[in-house]
Order: sequence, then C-alpha cells, then structure tokens
Amino acid sequence: MTDCASLAQRIDKIWAGEEAADVGPVVVKQALDLLDSGAIRVAEKQGDEWKVNEWVKKAVLLHFRYSDNREMTAGPIEWFDKVALKTGWRDAKVRSVPTAIARFGSFIEEGAVLMPCYINIGARVGSGTMIDTWSTVGSCAQVGKNCHISGGVGIGGVLEPLQASPVIIEDDVFFGARGEAAEGVVIEEGAVLAMGCYVAGSTKIYSVPEGRELPPGRIPARSVCVPGALASRDGSHQTYALIIKKYRDERTDARTALTSILREGI
Ligand SMILES: CC(C)(COP(=O)(O)OP(=O)(O)OC[C@H]1O[C@@H](n2cnc3c(N)ncnc32)[C@H](O)[C@@H]1OP(=O)(O)O)[C@@H](O)C(=O)NCCC(=O)NCCS
Repeated sequence: MTDCASLAQRIDKIWAGEEAADVGPVVVKQALDLLDSGAIRVAEKQGDEWKVNEWVKKAVLLHFRYSDNREMTAGPIEWFDKVALKTGWRDAKVRSVPTAIARFGSFIEEGAVLMPCYINIGARVGSGTMIDTWSTVGSCAQVGKNCHISGGVGIGGVLEPLQASPVIIEDDVFFGARGEAAEGVVIEEGAVLAMGCYVAGSTKIYSVPEGRELPPGRIPARSVCVPGALASRDGSHQTYALIIKKYRDERTDARTALTSILREGI
C-alpha cells in the first residue's frame, strides 16, 4: 500500500471545502488514478479486521462532482456518464469476455476472469477470481483472490451512505448462483454459499455444527451455507436465514474447485 497520508489529508480538506476550488479536481484525479491502478484501496485487512479508508470513498464521490457527463460509444451502443470505462485488459493480463464492463476506478488484479458482468467504481477483484455471467460487484466492494462469484450474484455497493462499509469477500470464497451480499457483510476466507443465499447486515445466521445462532454480518471461514429459515422468538412466523450446514470437506472442495485451464495463458 502506497503511503498516502498527505493525499488522504488533502482529500479530507477538499471534502470539507477547505481547499481552493481549482485544487480539488487535480488531487481527486490523482487519487482515482491510484485507485484504478490498485495502489490504494477502499478497504484493507489489518490483522483479522477490515479497515475502511473513508478518504478513498470521499475521493470516489468527489470524482462525480468534478466530472461532466459525456457521450461514450462502443459501435452502435451509446452511454452518457461521468465515469469512463476501464480499458487495457491485455496489458492488465485480465481475460475479459465481451460485454464485461468495469468502470474506471475499479481494480482488477492480473489473472482474474470477467465473464459478462458489471464492476463498479472503487471495487477490487483479486487474482484468479472469476466474476461469472450477469454478476455485479458494487461500488467499493472488495473481492479476494481465487474466488468464484457465480452467475447472477449481486454484491452490494456502498457509496450511499458514506459511512457504510463495503461488502468484503475474502480469498477462496465460492458464492453460488443468484445470491446476494449487502450492507458491509464480511464473507471470510474459503466460505461456500450455496445457490440462492442472501445475506445482509441483519440476516440471521444459524450454525448446525455449533448448535446456535451466530452474530450477523460475518460468514465464518470455510463454512458451507445454504438458504433456510428460522422461527421468530414468539414462534408466530419464520424468517429467511442462512444455515451453516457444516464446514468445508472433500466433497465441497470437489464441487467448488476452480478450473485452472480457464485461467491459463492470460
Ligand atoms: C453448496 C454446494 C456446493 C454443496 O456443497 P456440499 O459440501 O457438496 O454439500 P452437501 O451436498 O454435502 O450438502 C450438505 C447439506 O447441505 C444441504 N444443501 C446443499 N446444497 C443446498 C442448497 N443449494 N440448498 C439447500 N440445501 C443445500 C444438503 O441437503 C445437506 O443437508 P443435510 O446435511 O441436512 O443432508 C452446492 O449445493 C451448491 O450450491 N453449488 C453451487 C452451484 C452453483 O451455484 N454453481 C455456479 C453456477 S454459475
């Protein structure tokens, strides 16, 4: 991580309206270029905890203030937006299938594979990870290395509200098709979410191996989660819940293994 203390201070001052008007766009562009190159990031792991760099999120928002909407085209297709699309996949050594779209200010690490998907500004995708068809990685969401984010998965973005933490998907996570994560949920290393798992900040999580409910907002490392339901306290109804059925075993590994041939020769 680049030492960015002074850049952070300047962004905070621009945010507070304490810098001259002509300074903002220059400094914000500097920050966005660093974000786009992967030199800075919205969140980083310190020990077991994730630290959010609020100033980077502020820079992303200020980028919208200082940029004008403009027409962009790709053949007959046209857009009208303030944020450019990311380019240079060959040099970045990222395999990017037609209609995969990543906005400038996201960072996709060498060796990742993008199927037709959408990756928003500030997001980060690690090496060896596949973002599969019709999945979306929201603004500032962090996806680790060697993950499979399956078809149609939604990973929530966090620019509004500003203080919100991004969704974090740690390394080696398998996220089954059509699932969704939002509200700063952390999915720890090696966790497996079956098809159709939804998890937000208040989603109840029940662990069968532990025989009890776990605190919400964090999916334990190597847990195998399936969609389920839990009874309310008064027993009057049930609500959707994530059920940890077990921790990864050989069978799970065999069913979720990444295929290296899809990642070769990038
Ligand atoms: C999670 C998954 C990998 C299975 O892992 P596994 O370790 O082989 O799990 P098992 O078959 O041993 O099942 C363990 C328990 O979870 C339950 N379970 C497994 N998958 C489930 C699912 N999708 N929904 C509900 N329950 C499920 C099983 O019924 C079993 O329950 P039991 O202990 O009461 O008998 C698999 O179900 C899955 O969802 N694969 C993802 C498919 C997908 O999205 N592919 C990507 C397409 S782009």
